[in-house]
Amino acid sequence: MCVIVHSLFAIFAFATCGGYSGQLRVSVDCMEKASSNLSIGIDFAYPFKLHQVSFEAPACEAMRRERVFLIGDYSSSAEFFVTIAVFAFLYSLMATIVYIFFLNKYHENSRAPLIDFVVTVVFSFMWLVSSSAWAKALSDVKLATDPDEVQLLIPACKSQTNKCGSVHGPRWSGLNTSVVGLQDVCPR
Ligand SMILES: *[C@@H]1O[C@H](CO)[C@@H](O)[C@H](O)[C@H]1NC(C)=O
Ligand SMILES: *[C@@H]1O[C@H](CO)[C@@H](O)[C@H](O)[C@H]1NC(C)=O
Repeated sequence: MCVIVHSLFAIFAFATCGGYSGQLRVSVDCMEKASSNLSIGIDFAYPFKLHQVSFEAPACEAMRRERVFLIGDYSSSAEFFVTIAVFAFLYSLMATIVYIFFLNKYHENSRAPLIDFVVTVVFSFMWLVSSSAWAKALSDVKLATDPDEVQLLIPACKSQTNKCGSVHGPRWSGLNTSVVGLQDVCPR
């Protein structure tokens, strides 16, 4: 039952990618201690429009703070991936219902297996394209949200006298499975 396997992966894919939210945390330890912030949390989520994600970092000058933006917009790959997964899920669900409840009609209608075959081939192809685009985008998102990289965006961290550090990076456990799951293309 290839369709059932497919729909399980599809549910998994849009649930893990479409529902993702993560947080990283960095510290900025200014020479002038009073203006330091040792725990700056930065939240981001699907669809990974990182260029719209910003946070306030101390400027390490008086008590001034500066707004810093992350870099990159990965929404097209992420949304494409989730859209294909949603449609693949709906199609698999429909196909499963047809197989189970209308098996006779399916075999009587000589065109049904052909249409099913063509649609499945198209989905498998879209699946492959969207999952490889998403796998590439995900590795870029990982880099762009790596606390060690994010520190480099903070102007105060460019000065040797201030110490910046990473407190923790985002958790990726859910998203890893979204990529692994989609590499499966069911043979028919
Ligand atoms: C540090 O930054 C966080 C935002 O991530 C903010 O909520 C907090 O008030 C800041 N702390 C200080 C001491 O400015
Ligand atoms: C997720 O994948 C990355 C490599 O892409 C790996 O380094 C990391 O350990 C994985 N995390 C989990 C929780 O599987």
